[in-house]
Amino acid sequence: MIDVRALPKAELHLHIEGTFEPELIFEIAERNRVAVPYPNVDALRAAYDFSNLQSFLNVYYAGMNVLREERDYYDLTAAYLRRAVTEGIRHAEIFFDPQAHVKRGVPFDTIVGGIRSALESGERELGISSHLIMCFLRDFSEESAMQTLDVALRNRDRIVAVGLDSSETGNPPAKFARVFERARSEGFRTVAHAGEEGPPEYIVEALDVLNVSRIDHGIRCMEDAALVERLRDERVPLTVCPLSNLRLRVVPSIEEHPLHAMLEAGLVATVNSDDPAYFGGYVSENYARVASALHLSVSDLTMLAQNSFEASFLDPQKRRQFTDEIEVFRAATLQDARLRRANPQAVP
Ligand code: HPA
Ligand code: ZN
Repeated sequence: MIDVRALPKAELHLHIEGTFEPELIFEIAERNRVAVPYPNVDALRAAYDFSNLQSFLNVYYAGMNVLREERDYYDLTAAYLRRAVTEGIRHAEIFFDPQAHVKRGVPFDTIVGGIRSALESGERELGISSHLIMCFLRDFSEESAMQTLDVALRNRDRIVAVGLDSSETGNPPAKFARVFERARSEGFRTVAHAGEEGPPEYIVEALDVLNVSRIDHGIRCMEDAALVERLRDERVPLTVCPLSNLRLRVVPSIEEHPLHAMLEAGLVATVNSDDPAYFGGYVSENYARVASALHLSVSDLTMLAQNSFEASFLDPQKRRQFTDEIEVFRAATLQDARLRRANPQAVP
């Protein structure tokens, strides 16, 4: 048995607004005197019954509406980091959706200021390393994305990468070709959600037109053998989110999730939580559920954790430090299993 909570890991697909737990939504709503369109926490949680990506996004954007002040963004991020420590997360690359806040009148600097100061406290006090990734909303215009990039350039040192999220179908990556080209020329790393609900062609487009170095979700690559071969040969990482896929009905059950097949095909797959407050589990729960439903071995699970650091934007020295930690964990887990087999009574 492997203790997936203790397994050292990086989380690479996590929307900070998707960690907004109902209790904190109500607390901040009261503080800001903003109405929540549900009478209480239980009624809000009961609304988390999604039929597809859009039905989730409607609730997700409604929840973040109560965020107004820098302190709100700080509290949201600090709550995630406190939880992340208990999940074995050593490093987190965190998405945020500035357009969803700026369009409500919240200044960009308020959002980034609150998130950044919580990340700095998290690094100092909890020892969690982190990077920030700014996502463009793909159902907004190219012009809006370009304006958002302009503003982000004033915070250049605080954002490592740009990404692409929100409603996928009908909003192909190529819509943002010029935005991503400019972002890359300004030195940002690039990632994009593709092949979650959208077809495998969107993954190809994200690679060929946006030149991204990592694909978020990407599970529909399994429908295209040539694409699988390419992703494997180029070692393009995929940030897979099993409980998200289940709750948004992208897969019918965890037992039928393609993660094991992806590992067997030699893909650099990782496990992440996406929007854990909405999808019923943080990252360790995602590891635990796939471990049990797909019968993953200790080697599969440590491989997923190794992949999470390989796929990260950490510098090679830090990456090495974390992957060495996984090797120590793996050796201890295998030793423990040997002892149990040799003498089942002696080991608690
Ligand atoms: N897909 C697209 N957009 C999102 C998601 C997602 O899973 N979560 C938050 N925004
Ligand atoms: Zn996502």
